[in-house]
Amino acid sequence: MAYETYIDIRSDTVTRPTEAMRKAMAAAEVGDDVYGDDPTVRALEELGAGLVKKEAALFVPSGTFGNQLALFTCCGRGTEVILGEECHIIQHEAGAASVIAGVQTRTISAPDGALPADAVASRLRKRELHFPATSLICVENAHSLGRAVPLAAMIAIQELASQWGLPVHLDGARVFNAACALGCTAADIAARATTVMFCLSKGLCAPVGSLLAGPAALIEEARYKRKIMGGGMRQAGILAAAGIIALQTHPALLAADHARARRLEQGLAALGAGGIAVLPGDINLVFFRIADKAKAAAAAAAFRARGILINPPDLSPSSNSSNSGGAWLFRFATHYWIGDSEVEKILAASREIFL
Ligand SMILES: Cc1ncc(COP(=O)(O)O)c(C=O)c1O
Repeated sequence: MAYETYIDIRSDTVTRPTEAMRKAMAAAEVGDDVYGDDPTVRALEELGAGLVKKEAALFVPSGTFGNQLALFTCCGRGTEVILGEECHIIQHEAGAASVIAGVQTRTISAPDGALPADAVASRLRKRELHFPATSLICVENAHSLGRAVPLAAMIAIQELASQWGLPVHLDGARVFNAACALGCTAADIAARATTVMFCLSKGLCAPVGSLLAGPAALIEEARYKRKIMGGGMRQAGILAAAGIIALQTHPALLAADHARARRLEQGLAALGAGGIAVLPGDINLVFFRIADKAKAAAAAAAFRARGILINPPDLSPSSNSSNSGGAWLFRFATHYWIGDSEVEKILAASREIFL
């Protein structure tokens, strides 16, 4: 079966570029971006900075790159970064913070993705003979477990950080999803942080790339550190052209992805049997647990046989706390290429596989 004929709900990163993006990529005016003369990259960076109301933005190859570059830029080696224990930087970036920025990470339980300000406050510290200094607080919105973090929670962290003179980095891989769920703008969310990374290549459909935005001086330093990390890209305008369309056209389309995610949640919950427990979700990610281990283990192959690609559940209970409760955690992602008919096919397959 050709890949493009599968219904792929493993992630929103699987989104292929649209026809409009492919045309813009083919026609993009390019230059050598390491020399600073790719006009399409510059246009993307200006557009992105404007959307999150920051002084400057820098085009980077991936969300992981953007997060790690923020740490590398904001934190001295041997300092300490405070962040949530389920956040992407901790769970899914291969321990990069210790390798690239050389920082120590200190994690806090963050139910529903929001870092509790009192827990953060109790862990902030200044350098002393035995202590590393806290150099950064990282927040994530939308949280990768599918929740939009309310602005009030972000404001509490921002106020604390400013009392301590600390920067806040926002992993906003899905900041436009969060804005859609919270009924505000991406700039309203980014205003609660010093730097923000957001992805063009997830729900916004671009093939590659993220932006790191923040104060101009910090982004200039990040440009230097991006070079250290090997992230200076040459005729990157080919990619930036798709990113411009992603930012201009696609945030407005995310509400439809969210509505389809809620329809999936309702349909899965209505199955009732099979020990399915649907977790609350705010964005395009649907999380549910299945108590029946045999059904959970066989699910990915069974969906594949029906033309649907899903990630297998996390079958190692000790790997992280998202697997607590002795049930296996699944994630389905809706996105641009998943329409209403695909949602109904996924629910029909779920009925056959999980009941
Ligand atoms: C919250 C969050 N941050 C960062 C990333 C990393 O993005 P990338 O896959 O482009 O490295 C992801 C990817 O899914 C994510 O969900």
